[in-house]
Amino acid sequence: MQALVDRLRRPDARITVLTGAGVSAASGVPTFRGADGLWKNFRPETLATAEAFGRDPKLVWEWYAWRRSLIAACDPNPAHRVLAEWSRRFENFRLITQNVDGLHESAFAEATARQAGPSDVIRLHGSIWEVSCWQGCAKSPARWRDETLSFAELPPRCPHCGGMVRPGVVWFGETLEPDVVQQASDATECEVFITVGTSAIVYPAAGFITAARQNGAFTVEINPEATAATHTVDLALTGGAEKLLPDIDRQISA
Ligand code: APR
Repeated sequence: MQALVDRLRRPDARITVLTGAGVSAASGVPTFRGADGLWKNFRPETLATAEAFGRDPKLVWEWYAWRRSLIAACDPNPAHRVLAEWSRRFENFRLITQNVDGLHESAFAEATARQAGPSDVIRLHGSIWEVSCWQGCAKSPARWRDETLSFAELPPRCPHCGGMVRPGVVWFGETLEPDVVQQASDATECEVFITVGTSAIVYPAAGFITAARQNGAFTVEINPEATAATHTVDLALTGGAEKLLPDIDRQISA
Protein backbone atom coordinates (compact mmCIF):
# COMPACT_ATOMS: atom_id res chain seq x y z
CA MET A 1 0.00 0.00 0.00
CA GLN A 2 2.83 2.42 0.89
CA ALA A 3 4.27 2.00 -2.62
CA LEU A 4 0.97 3.22 -4.03
CA VAL A 5 0.50 6.07 -1.56
CA ASP A 6 4.04 7.35 -2.23
CA ARG A 7 3.39 7.41 -5.96
CA LEU A 8 0.07 9.24 -5.49
CA ARG A 9 1.63 11.95 -3.34
CA ARG A 10 3.05 13.63 -6.46
CA PRO A 11 0.49 16.06 -7.94
CA ASP A 12 1.99 15.55 -11.41
CA ALA A 13 1.85 11.74 -11.24
CA ARG A 14 0.32 10.23 -14.38
CA ILE A 15 -2.58 8.19 -13.01
CA THR A 16 -5.16 6.15 -14.88
CA VAL A 17 -8.12 4.39 -13.28
CA LEU A 18 -10.21 1.77 -15.08
CA THR A 19 -13.57 1.00 -13.48
CA GLY A 20 -16.22 -1.67 -13.88
CA ALA A 21 -19.59 -2.45 -12.40
CA GLY A 22 -18.17 -3.07 -8.89
CA VAL A 23 -17.45 0.64 -8.40
CA SER A 24 -21.22 1.26 -8.50
CA ALA A 25 -22.18 -1.77 -6.38
CA ALA A 26 -22.30 0.25 -3.15
CA SER A 27 -24.66 2.70 -4.88
CA GLY A 28 -27.10 -0.16 -5.45
CA VAL A 29 -26.43 -0.79 -9.15
CA PRO A 30 -26.23 -4.55 -9.81
CA THR A 31 -23.02 -5.96 -11.28
CA PHE A 32 -23.12 -8.35 -14.25
CA ARG A 33 -21.33 -11.41 -12.91
CA GLY A 34 -21.20 -13.01 -9.48
CA ALA A 35 -23.95 -14.32 -7.20
CA ASP A 36 -26.42 -11.44 -7.68
CA GLY A 37 -25.15 -10.37 -11.10
CA LEU A 38 -27.52 -9.43 -13.92
CA TRP A 39 -26.19 -12.25 -16.11
CA LYS A 40 -27.38 -14.78 -13.49
CA ASN A 41 -31.00 -13.88 -14.18
CA PHE A 42 -30.90 -12.51 -17.73
CA ARG A 43 -29.27 -13.86 -20.87
CA PRO A 44 -27.02 -11.37 -22.66
CA GLU A 45 -27.86 -12.88 -26.05
CA THR A 46 -31.58 -12.08 -25.61
CA LEU A 47 -31.03 -8.56 -24.24
CA ALA A 48 -27.67 -7.11 -25.13
CA THR A 49 -27.01 -7.78 -28.80
CA ALA A 50 -28.12 -6.07 -32.01
CA GLU A 51 -29.70 -9.38 -33.10
CA ALA A 52 -31.80 -9.45 -29.92
CA PHE A 53 -32.94 -5.88 -30.57
CA GLY A 54 -33.80 -6.69 -34.18
CA ARG A 55 -35.82 -9.71 -33.00
CA ASP A 56 -37.67 -8.17 -30.07
CA PRO A 57 -36.99 -4.43 -29.57
CA LYS A 58 -39.79 -4.08 -27.01
CA LEU A 59 -38.32 -6.77 -24.74
CA VAL A 60 -34.86 -5.23 -24.98
CA TRP A 61 -36.24 -1.75 -24.23
CA GLU A 62 -38.24 -3.05 -21.27
CA TRP A 63 -35.00 -4.33 -19.77
CA TYR A 64 -33.18 -1.04 -20.41
CA ALA A 65 -36.14 0.99 -19.12
CA TRP A 66 -36.06 -1.11 -15.92
CA ARG A 67 -32.32 -0.53 -15.53
CA ARG A 68 -32.72 3.22 -16.18
CA SER A 69 -35.32 3.47 -13.38
CA LEU A 70 -33.14 1.47 -11.04
CA ILE A 71 -30.06 3.61 -11.75
CA ALA A 72 -32.03 6.87 -11.53
CA ALA A 73 -32.69 6.02 -7.87
CA CYS A 74 -28.94 5.58 -7.16
CA ASP A 75 -26.41 8.19 -6.09
CA PRO A 76 -22.64 8.23 -6.50
CA ASN A 77 -20.87 6.53 -3.58
CA PRO A 78 -17.57 7.49 -1.88
CA ALA A 79 -15.57 5.63 -4.58
CA HIS A 80 -17.05 7.78 -7.36
CA ARG A 81 -16.50 10.88 -5.22
CA VAL A 82 -12.82 10.16 -4.56
CA LEU A 83 -12.20 9.58 -8.28
CA ALA A 84 -13.98 12.82 -9.15
CA GLU A 85 -11.85 14.62 -6.58
CA TRP A 86 -8.68 13.07 -8.03
CA SER A 87 -9.61 14.36 -11.47
CA ARG A 88 -9.45 17.83 -9.92
CA ARG A 89 -6.39 17.24 -7.81
CA PHE A 90 -4.06 15.54 -10.29
CA GLU A 91 -2.91 17.28 -13.44
CA ASN A 92 -2.53 14.01 -15.33
CA PHE A 93 -5.50 11.91 -14.27
CA ARG A 94 -7.50 9.73 -16.66
CA LEU A 95 -10.66 7.80 -15.85
CA ILE A 96 -11.77 4.97 -18.13
CA THR A 97 -15.06 3.25 -17.34
CA GLN A 98 -16.96 0.28 -18.69
CA ASN A 99 -20.04 1.50 -16.83
CA VAL A 100 -23.01 3.02 -18.62
CA ASP A 101 -24.75 4.23 -15.44
CA GLY A 102 -23.47 7.84 -15.46
CA LEU A 103 -22.51 7.84 -11.77
CA HIS A 104 -18.90 8.92 -12.44
CA GLU A 105 -20.28 11.82 -14.45
CA SER A 106 -22.65 12.80 -11.60
CA ALA A 107 -19.82 12.74 -9.06
CA PHE A 108 -17.63 14.74 -11.45
CA ALA A 109 -20.34 17.39 -11.85
CA GLU A 110 -20.72 17.59 -8.05
CA ALA A 111 -16.96 17.97 -7.52
CA THR A 112 -16.20 20.40 -10.33
CA ALA A 113 -19.52 22.21 -10.90
CA ARG A 114 -19.27 21.41 -14.61
CA GLN A 115 -20.46 18.55 -16.81
CA ALA A 116 -18.00 15.76 -17.56
CA GLY A 117 -16.73 15.84 -21.14
CA PRO A 118 -15.49 12.87 -23.18
CA SER A 119 -11.93 13.32 -21.96
CA ASP A 120 -13.00 13.54 -18.28
CA VAL A 121 -14.71 10.15 -18.34
CA ILE A 122 -13.68 7.82 -21.16
CA ARG A 123 -16.82 5.72 -21.63
CA LEU A 124 -15.88 2.50 -23.35
CA HIS A 125 -19.40 1.04 -23.45
CA GLY A 126 -21.46 4.19 -24.02
CA SER A 127 -24.21 5.50 -21.78
CA ILE A 128 -27.59 4.18 -20.76
CA TRP A 129 -28.73 7.84 -20.76
CA GLU A 130 -28.10 8.22 -24.48
CA VAL A 131 -30.00 6.81 -27.45
CA SER A 132 -29.46 6.64 -31.18
CA CYS A 133 -31.58 6.07 -34.25
CA TRP A 134 -31.70 2.34 -35.03
CA GLN A 135 -31.79 3.04 -38.78
CA GLY A 136 -29.01 5.64 -38.39
CA CYS A 137 -31.19 8.19 -40.23
CA ALA A 138 -29.33 11.06 -41.85
CA LYS A 139 -31.11 13.77 -39.83
CA SER A 140 -30.31 12.41 -36.36
CA PRO A 141 -27.01 12.94 -34.52
CA ALA A 142 -24.91 9.82 -33.89
CA ARG A 143 -26.28 9.75 -30.30
CA TRP A 144 -28.24 12.08 -28.11
CA ARG A 145 -29.08 12.34 -24.43
CA ASP A 146 -32.52 11.18 -23.33
CA GLU A 147 -33.23 10.73 -19.62
CA THR A 148 -36.89 9.74 -20.00
CA LEU A 149 -37.87 7.21 -17.35
CA SER A 150 -41.36 6.46 -18.52
CA PHE A 151 -41.56 6.28 -22.29
CA ALA A 152 -45.02 6.72 -23.84
CA GLU A 153 -44.23 3.81 -26.14
CA LEU A 154 -41.58 1.10 -26.33
CA PRO A 155 -39.45 1.16 -28.38
CA PRO A 156 -39.32 4.96 -28.33
CA ARG A 157 -39.42 6.71 -31.70
CA CYS A 158 -36.71 8.74 -33.42
CA PRO A 159 -37.86 12.40 -33.44
CA HIS A 160 -36.23 12.81 -36.86
CA CYS A 161 -37.47 9.85 -38.91
CA GLY A 162 -40.12 8.17 -36.73
CA GLY A 163 -38.19 4.88 -36.71
CA MET A 164 -37.06 3.10 -33.54
CA VAL A 165 -34.36 4.40 -31.26
CA ARG A 166 -31.94 2.09 -29.46
CA PRO A 167 -30.05 2.45 -26.19
CA GLY A 168 -26.71 4.28 -26.60
CA VAL A 169 -24.66 1.39 -25.22
CA VAL A 170 -22.22 -0.95 -26.89
CA TRP A 171 -23.72 -4.42 -27.16
CA PHE A 172 -21.91 -7.75 -27.33
CA GLY A 173 -20.54 -8.28 -30.81
CA GLU A 174 -20.42 -4.53 -31.57
CA THR A 175 -17.31 -2.51 -32.22
CA LEU A 176 -16.32 0.11 -29.69
CA GLU A 177 -15.92 3.66 -30.99
CA PRO A 178 -12.35 3.82 -32.33
CA ASP A 179 -11.58 7.29 -30.91
CA VAL A 180 -12.75 6.19 -27.46
CA VAL A 181 -10.56 3.08 -27.63
CA GLN A 182 -7.66 5.27 -28.76
CA GLN A 183 -8.16 7.64 -25.81
CA ALA A 184 -8.22 4.70 -23.40
CA SER A 185 -5.21 3.16 -25.02
CA ASP A 186 -3.31 6.47 -24.76
CA ALA A 187 -4.26 6.57 -21.07
CA THR A 188 -2.35 3.31 -20.48
CA GLU A 189 0.82 5.42 -20.90
CA CYS A 190 0.92 6.21 -17.20
CA GLU A 191 2.86 5.70 -13.99
CA VAL A 192 0.03 4.28 -11.85
CA PHE A 193 -2.82 2.22 -13.28
CA ILE A 194 -5.62 1.21 -10.91
CA THR A 195 -8.30 -1.27 -11.96
CA VAL A 196 -11.39 -0.99 -9.76
CA GLY A 197 -14.43 -3.26 -9.57
CA THR A 198 -14.08 -5.16 -12.81
CA SER A 199 -13.91 -8.90 -13.35
CA ALA A 200 -11.32 -8.09 -16.06
CA ILE A 201 -12.66 -10.59 -18.57
CA VAL A 202 -14.29 -8.31 -21.15
CA TYR A 203 -11.95 -6.96 -23.83
CA PRO A 204 -10.59 -4.53 -24.83
CA ALA A 205 -10.98 -3.14 -21.27
CA ALA A 206 -9.17 -6.06 -19.64
CA GLY A 207 -6.26 -5.64 -22.07
CA PHE A 208 -5.58 -2.11 -20.84
CA ILE A 209 -4.28 -3.51 -17.54
CA THR A 210 -1.62 -5.53 -19.39
CA ALA A 211 -0.89 -2.59 -21.69
CA ALA A 212 -0.29 -0.28 -18.72
CA ARG A 213 2.03 -2.81 -17.14
CA GLN A 214 3.96 -3.15 -20.40
CA ASN A 215 4.19 0.65 -20.49
CA GLY A 216 5.93 0.53 -17.10
CA ALA A 217 3.01 1.51 -14.86
CA PHE A 218 2.70 0.37 -11.26
CA THR A 219 -0.54 -1.63 -11.50
CA VAL A 220 -3.08 -1.95 -8.71
CA GLU A 221 -6.37 -3.81 -8.38
CA ILE A 222 -9.20 -2.92 -5.99
CA ASN A 223 -11.78 -5.69 -5.72
CA PRO A 224 -13.31 -7.75 -2.89
CA GLU A 225 -12.69 -10.92 -4.93
CA ALA A 226 -9.86 -12.38 -6.97
CA THR A 227 -10.26 -11.74 -10.70
CA ALA A 228 -8.53 -12.60 -13.95
CA ALA A 229 -6.20 -9.64 -13.29
CA THR A 230 -5.30 -10.27 -9.63
CA HIS A 231 -2.15 -12.26 -10.30
CA THR A 232 -0.92 -9.89 -12.98
CA VAL A 233 -0.92 -6.66 -10.95
CA ASP A 234 1.82 -5.29 -8.70
CA LEU A 235 -0.59 -4.69 -5.81
CA ALA A 236 -3.95 -6.37 -5.25
CA LEU A 237 -6.06 -4.67 -2.57
CA THR A 238 -8.94 -6.82 -1.35
CA GLY A 239 -12.09 -4.94 -0.42
CA GLY A 240 -14.87 -2.68 -1.63
CA ALA A 241 -13.96 0.37 -3.69
CA GLU A 242 -16.25 2.55 -1.55
CA LYS A 243 -13.99 1.84 1.44
CA LEU A 244 -10.53 1.38 -0.10
CA LEU A 245 -10.51 4.48 -2.33
CA PRO A 246 -11.40 6.82 0.58
CA ASP A 247 -8.74 5.02 2.70
CA ILE A 248 -6.10 5.65 0.03
CA ASP A 249 -7.29 9.23 -0.38
CA ARG A 250 -6.93 9.86 3.36
CA GLN A 251 -3.41 8.43 3.33
CA ILE A 252 -2.23 10.58 0.44
CA SER A 253 -3.76 13.67 2.06
CA ALA A 254 -2.21 12.94 5.49
N1 APR B 1 -16.04 -2.68 -4.87
C1 APR B 1 -15.20 -3.11 -5.86
N2 APR B 1 -15.47 -4.16 -6.64
C2 APR B 1 -16.61 -4.83 -6.42
C3 APR B 1 -17.53 -4.45 -5.42
C4 APR B 1 -17.20 -3.34 -4.61
N3 APR B 1 -17.99 -2.90 -3.61
N4 APR B 1 -18.56 -5.33 -5.44
C5 APR B 1 -18.31 -6.20 -6.43
N5 APR B 1 -17.12 -5.91 -7.02
C6 APR B 1 -16.46 -6.59 -8.14
C7 APR B 1 -16.76 -8.06 -8.32
O1 APR B 1 -15.96 -8.85 -7.46
C8 APR B 1 -16.43 -8.26 -9.80
O2 APR B 1 -15.06 -8.62 -9.97
O3 APR B 1 -16.88 -5.99 -9.33
C9 APR B 1 -16.65 -6.89 -10.40
C10 APR B 1 -17.85 -6.80 -11.32
O4 APR B 1 -17.62 -7.61 -12.43
P1 APR B 1 -18.65 -7.69 -13.63
O5 APR B 1 -20.01 -7.86 -13.11
O6 APR B 1 -18.12 -8.70 -14.59
O7 APR B 1 -18.58 -6.21 -14.26
P2 APR B 1 -17.57 -5.62 -15.32
O8 APR B 1 -16.21 -6.14 -15.13
O9 APR B 1 -17.77 -4.15 -15.30
O10 APR B 1 -18.16 -6.20 -16.67
C11 APR B 1 -17.60 -5.78 -17.90
O11 APR B 1 -19.36 -6.89 -19.06
O12 APR B 1 -21.51 -7.51 -19.73
C12 APR B 1 -20.68 -6.57 -19.42
O13 APR B 1 -20.92 -4.65 -20.71
C13 APR B 1 -20.95 -5.13 -19.39
O14 APR B 1 -19.41 -3.31 -18.98
C14 APR B 1 -19.77 -4.63 -18.59
C15 APR B 1 -18.68 -5.65 -18.93
